[in-house]
Amino acid sequence: MKVVGSIPEIRKILREIRLAGKTIGLVPTMGYLHAGHLSLIDEAKKHCDFVVISIFVNPTQFGPTEDLDKYPRDFKRDEKLAREHGVDLIFFPDAAEMYPKPFFTYVVTEQLSKTLCGASRPVHFRGVTTVVSKLFNIVQPDVAVFGQKDAQQAIIIRRMVGDLNFPVQVIVAPIVREADGLAMSSRNVYLSQEERRQAPIIFNALKSAKEFVSKGDRDASAIGKLIRRTIGGSPLAEIEYVEIVDPITLENVQNIERGTFVAVAVRFGKTRLIDNVVLID
Ligand code: PAJ
Repeated sequence: MKVVGSIPEIRKILREIRLAGKTIGLVPTMGYLHAGHLSLIDEAKKHCDFVVISIFVNPTQFGPTEDLDKYPRDFKRDEKLAREHGVDLIFFPDAAEMYPKPFFTYVVTEQLSKTLCGASRPVHFRGVTTVVSKLFNIVQPDVAVFGQKDAQQAIIIRRMVGDLNFPVQVIVAPIVREADGLAMSSRNVYLSQEERRQAPIIFNALKSAKEFVSKGDRDASAIGKLIRRTIGGSPLAEIEYVEIVDPITLENVQNIERGTFVAVAVRFGKTRLIDNVVLID
């Protein structure tokens, strides 16, 4: 497994790989790898001959008051996990390599980046679409794998790839959860013991909403209330949003249909957790 920080160097290596007729898969990450990230690597390996993961805590997707500086990092551990998982190359650039000064060009997916998480994180998706565009241009992968955990991110990236004709196949892999249902996230390490104990209420609420829908309830507003009431049962949970939305436009729906999903953001103390489920698959 190679570890490369420089853009000219990774381009040189990947040119050889392509010349050898191999297909390239990319899994973009911010590191501090967990089983969710590893499942994306496994998925990429199914589709490609050569798997690249990027590890880059991307400054442009963090707001000024967010956790950029304290975002968890452990490159040695990530390197070991990646090697054990059969990754062929880790792209591990520093901020100066990705954002040489001056830097003036951003990619923005309008509309979709303003709702849900975009409402409280106004520059977040601009940073994501910009860095993912850069990674696509640097790596030129045949396939890129993202997680359903960040449903809005996956939808925005699919839209960007379609709108801008990136020659990349986007695959979205299912959410990997802890045994008690909490969606895995690098940020779960921020939770106190008590917050961690209460956090599974989020998935419990989403699961019971899906059960109601499976029994025939299609009223988004009633299902939304049910979810709020359930999560509100945890004294430490502060709901940022509960939205039941269309998977293409991310607009709120009144009636739940195939593909409609519920997305939530909930704060436990200083930690912001997100989760989602598709209500009718
Ligand atoms: P990061 O949070 O490190 O996540 C990297 C990828 O792993 C994303 O596609 C995310 O959806 C996926 N992922 C995270 N937790 C998951 C889980 N529990 N189950 C399945 N997949 C999961 O998302 C980012 O980084 C960044 O925004 C990035 C796309 C790398 C751009 O900087």
